[in-house]
Amino acid sequence: DWTMGAYKDEAIRKIREQVGDKKVICGLSGGVDSSVAAVLIHEAIGDQLTCVFVDHGLLRQGEAEEVVTMFRDHYNMPLIHADEQDLFLGELDGQFDPETKRKIIGRLFIDVFQKHAAEVGGAKFLAQGTLYPDVIESVSFSGGPSVTIKSHHNVGGLPEKMGLKLVEPLRELFKDEVRALGLELGLPDSFIGRHPFPGPGLAIRCPGEITREKLEILRKADAVFIDQIRKHGLYDEIWQAFVAILPVRTVGVMGDGRTYDFACALRAVTSVDGMTADYYPFSHEFLGETATRIINEVQGINRVTYDITSKPPGTIEWE
Ligand code: XMP
Repeated sequence: DWTMGAYKDEAIRKIREQVGDKKVICGLSGGVDSSVAAVLIHEAIGDQLTCVFVDHGLLRQGEAEEVVTMFRDHYNMPLIHADEQDLFLGELDGQFDPETKRKIIGRLFIDVFQKHAAEVGGAKFLAQGTLYPDVIESVSFSGGPSVTIKSHHNVGGLPEKMGLKLVEPLRELFKDEVRALGLELGLPDSFIGRHPFPGPGLAIRCPGEITREKLEILRKADAVFIDQIRKHGLYDEIWQAFVAILPVRTVGVMGDGRTYDFACALRAVTSVDGMTADYYPFSHEFLGETATRIINEVQGINRVTYDITSKPPGTIEWE
């Protein structure tokens, strides 16, 4: 009968068969999907794999250090830490349309990979942690007409000009299965249990124009929200939780003074696979305490709202 152990062995056999003695580069995002893909491929082909971790300037607080430490130092994987913040934030400057932003990020990812693939010297394959829901959601929605809701930068194949073939060992799996596979591969519980984080990162949680100032505020507010969720023991009950910074300043009062700062929205949902989702029913106490902490601890935010939209009709991310 079917077990994750058997699935793993079969996946490793297929990777070896596909790749042979060629080199592979893998885009590591810090999320569970690309991490499981990397560890699986590393187990299959060892040092034929080089991971490329792109810091696009759209990561959460402390994330780059965490990922580099874990994979380079703990797993001993060849890892290129590509600091491309100026490139991405430069090209995103002045852009506010969601699809335009996604397309810019997707295109730059490909450029950056191409550059680093060349550094690795003759890589022939690009590995990605594409899941089954990514595959179907980019093609159609709810069985309806074929329409793109959001362009996922990790789906749809790469341009011919890149000259790399795709290795996508998670393409048949749902999120819970990827987590089970990660455990089977010995990834720590705490890592496997991390909430999903999208490739375009904080860009899709920053509707409107992306500025370094807004990203800095967003990182701080997000860290407070996640800290609150952990302190209240809710992290594992929630599929995904984050803050979105809204493209609007509102008037507030702090002490004797007037403030004119950004509003933010808390987003937290339960889900099985990310394809449908319900907003998480926090207590009013939790929400009030979190709003107070964010406004007190994060300079630049003076108003906190809670997003109570389910998916559908909303999506989980704001863009
Ligand atoms: P939405 O916002 O479409 O998100 O309801 C569903 C799930 O997908 C994640 N997401 C992405 N993941 N690349 C990714 O790797 C992307 O471009 C992307 N867009 C959304 C989102 O975080 C949620 O878990």
